[in-house]
Amino acid sequence: MTEPPFRIDTGGSAVPCGPDQKMLDAFLRGGVWIPNSCNQGTCGTCKVRISSGTVETSPAPDTVLSTAEQDRGYVLACQSIPTSDVTIDSVGIDSGTPHHVLRDIAGTVGAICQVADDTLAVTILLDEPLEFTAGQYVELSIPGTDTTRPYSMANPPSQDDKLEFHIRRQPGGCATDGWIFDGLAVGDPVSMTGPWGDFCYTADDPELGLVLLAGGTGLAPLKSIAAAALELDPHREIHVYHGVRFESDLYDVDYWHDLAADHPGVRYTPCLSRGGWTGRTGYVGDALVADLPSCKNFSAYLCGPPAMVEAGVKALKRRRISPRRIHRESYTPTNQLTAV
Ligand code: FES
Repeated sequence: MTEPPFRIDTGGSAVPCGPDQKMLDAFLRGGVWIPNSCNQGTCGTCKVRISSGTVETSPAPDTVLSTAEQDRGYVLACQSIPTSDVTIDSVGIDSGTPHHVLRDIAGTVGAICQVADDTLAVTILLDEPLEFTAGQYVELSIPGTDTTRPYSMANPPSQDDKLEFHIRRQPGGCATDGWIFDGLAVGDPVSMTGPWGDFCYTADDPELGLVLLAGGTGLAPLKSIAAAALELDPHREIHVYHGVRFESDLYDVDYWHDLAADHPGVRYTPCLSRGGWTGRTGYVGDALVADLPSCKNFSAYLCGPPAMVEAGVKALKRRRISPRRIHRESYTPTNQLTAV
């Protein structure tokens, strides 16, 4: 019987996998890209078929990995630890998106700023630069635990010596109530892994406009995407819709107004779903339908709670966007991410 590290092979590229190391982690650290999103076993993006070898794997909900798929040898790479050398089918391996090697990252808290009710903008100064693509996330390690939480970068990849996160307090949450909102201070060390995720800005046809639909702190990756797109083309047409419940939940308002003032193609529309004010009310998808007669010549990125993302996708389809140009990432209150 062989001992770890085991060799895991895609049928073309092979990487070592240490004891207790998940296959997805081993592939990404080894520079072999497997599509991935939540890293929590909840989205199914990292599904692979084992063609030889054995793994230990956690039970997956039928909605993520059906019994029929399991019978055919499919597992979730983010939840599976090899117990022998393993070969997986190369099916599902995506070579079209920009990929960066996963690694451990260390840094120090550089700034903490309360930007809205129960919402902080936290800047981490990195010990070493990190390559990532706009839209991706890192997993912050919660000190004193084995637990991590995903947070998307809000700064563009060109600023590779720091990371900006938008963090909303989750009552009772171990990352927020137990750490970030309970004494995290400038100068504290922070460790994390990354970059993770398939919710990536791809510099597609520059003639296409961008629609960015955000709910709550789903604004973070879209801020990174807008900045990255404007670095490539300062005249890019970008429509940003930020949905929150109350005015006190809005943040980065001045940032977006300044961006729109400097870039004639940028339109920023905050929308409140509850509570009165003089600005737009209702849901971001409805605002988009009211404003844009057609989205045929747009790419769209959506990030926020699942219901907001689903409604936004429906609104975009009503406006005739090509489905292949819709990129979405949902998050639940426990910050599990699901990109499609
Ligand atoms: S289930 Fe593995 S990345 Fe989501």
